[in-house]
Amino acid sequence: MLLRRMVVLALAMCLMLIAPPTISGAGVTLTIDAGRTGTGISPTLFGLMFEDINHSGDGGIYGELLADRSFLDDPTGHANWSLVTTGRAQGSFDLDTSQPINKTALTTSLRLTIARVGADERVGIANGGYYGLPVRPGTLYHVAFYARRSADFSGPLKVSLESTAGRVFAAALVSGISTSWRRYTLSIKVPFGIQPSETNQFVISMAHTGRVWFNLVSLFPATWNNRANGLRVDLMRLLKDMHPGFLRFPGGNFLEGQTIGTRFAWKNTIGALSLRPGHLDDAWGYRSSDGLGLLEYLEWCADLHMMPVLGVYAGYSLDGQYVQAGPRLRPYVQDALDEIQYATGSSHTVWGARRTADGHPAPFTIPYVEIGNEDSFDQSGGYDGRFAQFFDAIRRTYPSMKLIATTTVHSRTPDVYDQHFYESPQWFVANAGYYDHYSRNGPSIFVGEYAAQTSDIGQSEATLGAALGEAAWMTGLERNADLVAMASYAPLFANESFTQWNPDLIGFDSLSSFGSPSYYVQKLFSLYHGDVTLPSKLDGRAALAFVASKASADGTLYLTVVNTATSAQITRIVIKGVASIAARGEATVLTSGSLDDQNSLSAPVKVVPSVSQLAGVGDIFTYRFQPNSVTVLKLAMRKVVR
Ligand code: AHR
Repeated sequence: MLLRRMVVLALAMCLMLIAPPTISGAGVTLTIDAGRTGTGISPTLFGLMFEDINHSGDGGIYGELLADRSFLDDPTGHANWSLVTTGRAQGSFDLDTSQPINKTALTTSLRLTIARVGADERVGIANGGYYGLPVRPGTLYHVAFYARRSADFSGPLKVSLESTAGRVFAAALVSGISTSWRRYTLSIKVPFGIQPSETNQFVISMAHTGRVWFNLVSLFPATWNNRANGLRVDLMRLLKDMHPGFLRFPGGNFLEGQTIGTRFAWKNTIGALSLRPGHLDDAWGYRSSDGLGLLEYLEWCADLHMMPVLGVYAGYSLDGQYVQAGPRLRPYVQDALDEIQYATGSSHTVWGARRTADGHPAPFTIPYVEIGNEDSFDQSGGYDGRFAQFFDAIRRTYPSMKLIATTTVHSRTPDVYDQHFYESPQWFVANAGYYDHYSRNGPSIFVGEYAAQTSDIGQSEATLGAALGEAAWMTGLERNADLVAMASYAPLFANESFTQWNPDLIGFDSLSSFGSPSYYVQKLFSLYHGDVTLPSKLDGRAALAFVASKASADGTLYLTVVNTATSAQITRIVIKGVASIAARGEATVLTSGSLDDQNSLSAPVKVVPSVSQLAGVGDIFTYRFQPNSVTVLKLAMRKVVR
């Protein structure tokens, strides 16, 4: 009896998996001509744009867990560090610039004074991380810090990972602290059998009176590919799952800074961490440690097989400061040339040798360099001249490198224009054909930033409705892949405790992360397209945006359809120019009950695609596109008729 029930249940589940296409009531016809090819689609069409906004670098993808590790972020040190005492113990700490480790980066140390401490008591300093400190079971944490002691201090330091309520997860003693600066490293392991948590702190404490100074106090969990100074694993996994073709970095406004002095000065972001001063990310209102520096960006690209799209500072900053083209601009142009050489030069070049010394002898390939960011904001109109100076110098040295302009220029012909769109979902839907009739006689297009805004720009929500707008728009990007070389959503990440710009593709706290509905749209487009578009057309009126493509290697046909109507759209699909279509296919559908639906830390998978198997498809069939949905139909073509 039980067996029969199980068989019936299993059969029912199989039937649910094989969702038969609707076979009646077709209102419109979507015809795909599989016998003709449209335009080639580059595997690097869809990629990522990253800048340190919303604590997406420090406190985000950069693996460092401690905030203000070098005591430069606030004048007291008390914003991120706190004093720990037990019993009747007494102590205090302040910041000390009198004996710096070096004069450029580690200029300010934390001085801890232990005034009184009894047996079984302690005085120490604690750091709660970037809005939480993740402790996971069975995890190894790498600790490093510089320390020195006063002559009257003796005894070891105790390093521990604890909950804020005082439960110690892992601890170790460090003895032999010197009276002069030395670096100490150790690893501590959290045992299995505990729950992951984030209301924790990292503590260095002692049970002897005297003084101890600290600098560059660092705590890393395991990172992606186990790189020292590497990147956060869950966020990298979310990115890897997208199969991104490229990474545009380091900005965005982060590249430019509010002032020339707070631009991304790449030379300060390479080499030992002890030599990186960090800088004020005044575009987004906090200090960047620059632990995520030029080499880390390049290794990030290598780890996810992404093509680097390197943005170089082009002499204009957000508050309007600019460097006029001519002799004064030369050092900035040289800086960009040095930067490209650092990334791509052999070990026999000056900057290639620096990269080798920094641990990466193999040169990277940089196919695209972007000169500046959003330079249409430069009211002086000076971008044309500045662009020309950068263009000539880079072209002379790197003739095959493609150079991207950020706004219209006349003095030179850029290879690519970067265009940004922060518009309403309705605008994106209405403009899905934006590039259909765009001139093919000029540079290609890089849609370097776009995201649908449901209300004020940067202060809206990552809803299903926004994602549908982007999806409709992306059908046009893919359809026009002969013109649109690359496209990336922005911004990429937001620390949910410090979100200054919304919507973002991926949200996280210190412990977990989730993709927005837009993330899943990006993923669908990135994963499900062929290498060539197929001409397609719609007969009849329907709120459908669509694109068809095929993978030449195996004949897979991808049809992506965005239905922005609140009602289902029954559609007759006709595939011409193909001997036959396999009866079985696959449908991947992203939708949800309301256009306002979102994902969040507490409901991370509310809006995610579902996959179902199709049976009974062919070169003519009917499909019911769900209301407010993105659907990718994956079909197998048998031998195309010529
Ligand atoms: O993506 C956020 C910001 O929007 C970028 O830094 C800037 O390029 C654009 O204005």
